[in-house]
Amino acid sequence: MHLAGYRLHADRLPSRERYPFCLPALLHTPELDLNHGVVLFVGENGSGKSTLLRALCRNAGIFIWGGFADLSADEEAFLRAVELRWARGPMPGSFFSSETFFNFAQVADHDSAMHEFFGPRGFGAQSHGQSLMAYFSARYRLPGLYFLDEPETALTPRGQLDLLRLLQAMSRDGHAQFIIATHSPILLACPGARLYGFDGPAIRPVAYRETEHYRFYRDFMENPLPFLGPPRENG
Ligand SMILES: Nc1ncnc2c1ncn2[C@@H]1O[C@H](COP(=O)(O)OP(=O)(O)OP(=O)(O)O)[C@@H](O)[C@H]1O
Ligand SMILES: [Mg+2]
Repeated sequence: MHLAGYRLHADRLPSRERYPFCLPALLHTPELDLNHGVVLFVGENGSGKSTLLRALCRNAGIFIWGGFADLSADEEAFLRAVELRWARGPMPGSFFSSETFFNFAQVADHDSAMHEFFGPRGFGAQSHGQSLMAYFSARYRLPGLYFLDEPETALTPRGQLDLLRLLQAMSRDGHAQFIIATHSPILLACPGARLYGFDGPAIRPVAYRETEHYRFYRDFMENPLPFLGPPRENG
């Protein structure tokens, strides 16, 4: 494992009211153990998963495509309050999200070295899901520390299973480490992964079957009708 954990120095935060200091899950979690091959962040929309993922990535010195120019003073203050603990020293890696991938893929398609590395077809000539899988399977062969924000976007359930197998294979023996925010009940099933729930007063480890995502999908698919109220009226 590469990234062993992080500490939040809350005394360095200039406020408790403004974003990102106001996010309860982040504010009330002074330390987090990240010493696992696959770490998964799970929680409601708006609970702070992407905020923490990007802060960890930036603190690790890993480039986020198109993501450096727009940091507010408060986001910079948050970064200064986060301290990373490394198992064996800093590692190179990358950040994935659908938003940043679109821009990256356009650049990669016009760069002959990248074109060769990611396969002969180029991203632009593949479907959304196909281009994501082409990227994941080439990029994660390299050792490194990888941050992924909702990589399940555009992947079918079978595609998500392929990604899960890739994460398992590439995280074996410390080859690579993955820190992932996800809503995918398939990725959340990753054997041996550490799951962190963001819905309580602080971030805490959760078991797969305890997650709201697992229970909701299971109950909904068993019997969708009780979940479907009358149609909402327009206007
Ligand atoms: N740049 C910003 N300025 C102000 N508030 C923000 C900013 N970015 C996010 N927020 C707020 O912070 C909260 C957490 O956002 P974040 O994107 O971290 O959530 P998330 O857990 O990743 O959610 P999702 O599952 O929808 O991706 C949200 O309420 C959001 O509105
Ligand atoms: Mg998010």
